[in-house]
Amino acid sequence: MEKLKQRIMEQSSILSNDVLRMDAIINHQVDPGLTMEMGHEFANRFAEHGITKVITIESSGIPAAFATAYVLGVPLVFARRKKTLIADPDVYIERVPSFTKGMVTDIMVSKEFLSSDDKLLFIDDIIANGDAARGLIKIIEKSGAKLAGMGIVVEKSFQAGGRTLREQGIQVESLVKIASLDNGSIQFE
Ligand code: G4P
Ligand code: NA
Ligand code: NA
Repeated sequence: MEKLKQRIMEQSSILSNDVLRMDAIINHQVDPGLTMEMGHEFANRFAEHGITKVITIESSGIPAAFATAYVLGVPLVFARRKKTLIADPDVYIERVPSFTKGMVTDIMVSKEFLSSDDKLLFIDDIIANGDAARGLIKIIEKSGAKLAGMGIVVEKSFQAGGRTLREQGIQVESLVKIASLDNGSIQFE
C-alpha cells in the first residue's frame, strides 16, 4: 500500500534498530480516511473467504479491524487485556509474553462471541515476534472457530512473527513490510 509507505516515511520515527514509533498514524492518533483504505484493502484480499467476524486485540489493532469489519459488513470482536487472571468459565484466556515490553499479559475473549460456525479474519496493527498473535490464535483454536487468515498493517519482516505464522500455513497479508530499521533508515521490502 504505497500511500501507507509514504505516511510512514513522513510521520514515523526510528526508536532503535527494531522499533518504529508510529504514534501519528497507528498507536496514538489515527487518520480515519487512511484507516478506511486499510479496511478496503484487507476486505478485498479476503473477499472470497466467507468471513463472519473480524477479530483483533485491543488497543491499537481496533481501528484497522473496525474499518475491515465495516467494509465486510460483519461484527468486530476485540480480545481484551487483563492484568490479573480471574478464573471464569465463560471466557477463553491466554497468557502472552511481550518482547518489547518485557512482561506478560493475559488476553481474553468471552465464549459468547466465538462459535464453531465462525470464519474469522484476524487483523492487527504491527507484527514483531508474533507472541500476541499466537495467543489469540490459541483462543480461536479453543473456540472451534476457523481462522481464514491474518491482515497486518505493518509487518517488521526482520522479526520472525509473520514468517512463523506463514510456515504454520496461515495466510498472512501485510499492507507494508519493513525489512530493516538499521542505520537510522526505513527499508521497505
Ligand atoms: P509481538 O506480539 O509481535 O511479539 O510483538 P511484541 O510482543 O514485541 O509487541 C508488543 C507490543 O509492541 C504490541 O503492542 C506491538 O504492536 C508493539 N510493537 C512491536 N514492535 C513495534 C514497533 O516497531 N513499533 C510500534 N509502534 N509498536 C511495536 P500491544 O502491546 O499489542 O499494544 P497496543 O499498541 O495494541 O495497545
Ligand atoms: Na501496538
Ligand atoms: Na496490536
